[in-house]
Formats: sequence, C-alpha cells, structure tokens
Amino acid sequence: MSGQIAVSMMCADILRLSETLENFKKNKIEYLHIDVMDGDFVPNLQLGIDYIKQLRKNSKIPLDIHLMINRPEDKLEWFDIQENEMVSIHYESTNHISRALAIIKDKGAKAVLALNPATPFYVLEDSLPDLDAVLIMTVNPGYAGQPLVKQTLDKITRLRKWLDDNGCDIIQIEVDGNVSFENAKKMRSCGAEIFVAGSSSVFFKDMTLDDAITKLRENIS
Ligand code: DX5
Ligand code: ZN
Repeated sequence: MSGQIAVSMMCADILRLSETLENFKKNKIEYLHIDVMDGDFVPNLQLGIDYIKQLRKNSKIPLDIHLMINRPEDKLEWFDIQENEMVSIHYESTNHISRALAIIKDKGAKAVLALNPATPFYVLEDSLPDLDAVLIMTVNPGYAGQPLVKQTLDKITRLRKWLDDNGCDIIQIEVDGNVSFENAKKMRSCGAEIFVAGSSSVFFKDMTLDDAITKLRENIS
C-alpha cells in the first residue's frame, strides 16, 4: 500500500481554510493532522477544541489528533473523539498510558502512542496489544520548520523490524517533523506509512498545494 498523507493543519493559512480543505478533498488527503499543544508538555500553544469542531463540520476527511499535552487521560473527553479518527498521546506525557489508550479505543478510534526523538521504542512493549500505530517524532515536538533529528531514521528501521518480529505487522508507523520530500522518501524506505506533511512539503513556500501533494505522493508511493 502507498504511504498516506496527514496534512499538518497548524501550517495551513487560517484565512484560506475553506479553499485549502476543498483542495485536500480533491487530492484525496487521508488525514487532517491536528497538533494540540498545552504550553506545558511542549513550549507552545496550538490548535484547540473549537477549531477541531469547525474542521469536523467543514470536512469529511478523518482527523489525526496529536495531543502534546500532559495527563491526556484527564482531557480526552473534551475532544468528542469520533470512530474514524486517529488519536495520539505521548508516552512521555503521563503515568497512565494504559488508561489513556483504553479511553481512545472505547470511542472506536485508532490509538496511537507518540515517542519523542530520544525516547527508546522498547518502552512500547506492554502497550502493543492496544496500539493501531506508533508516531515517531522526527523533530523535537513544539514547532514547525525544525531540522530532522537524524538518528530517528534508523529508529524507524529498527522499530519496523521489532514490530514485525513481535507479530505486530498490522501496527503502522507514522512520522512527524521535517517530513520533506527528500526525507519522506528515506522514511518510506525505513518503513514509515503515514506522513505528517507540514512546512517541509505540502505547505512548502512558493509551491502550489497541487504540485506539493503530487511531489510528496511520488516520494511515498
Ligand atoms: C509538531 C508538528 C510539526 C509540523 C510538521 O508536532 O506536527 O512537526 O507541523 O511540519 P514541518 O516540520 O514540516 O514544519
Ligand atoms: Zn504533530
């Protein structure tokens, strides 16, 4: 199967959202990636609950909600999670991973555990039965436009092998951060399947959305 695109809505021009969403529908974008930041887990504040409600009203593309917030288990109910959505929580954000993943699964959504660049993937071991995907942060979370943390490429390769060796070939790997056209190609060959597309690709300056999406699709097919 070809790689899938999760467009980073944090990078979209907020004053042109309707035409951008129309374009994503036309280009059959698989997910709208929503970065939720609480100013505590990460040093930034980003997309909130009303924005998410508006997106659901104005687009049928499933949401991929990336929660960069502390203690997500206390806040998941705020998001009105839908069955066709993906929701990722960070391993580093709570002592109650199992509880948080259970809440997401209970809503019928896909449960994803996100790992910061320096967090080793073996910490996932006892969560594997609860996971639909693993989100590998390929930059330190918090901002768009950062350079790749280079050792995360090898981490993707080793994680894919480890998942397959543990009978978890169904668990997908999503990558987030500096997923440029060039890096996407490398990440694809390392085993990534879902690509968060931000300022390094789909929203690349001086390129149309159509051209940027076509170029990214070529590199992850
Ligand atoms: C943070 C964000 C960023 C960003 C991706 O979690 O998800 O990684 O939007 O876009 P780039 O890195 O290409 O600007
Ligand atoms: Zn993200």
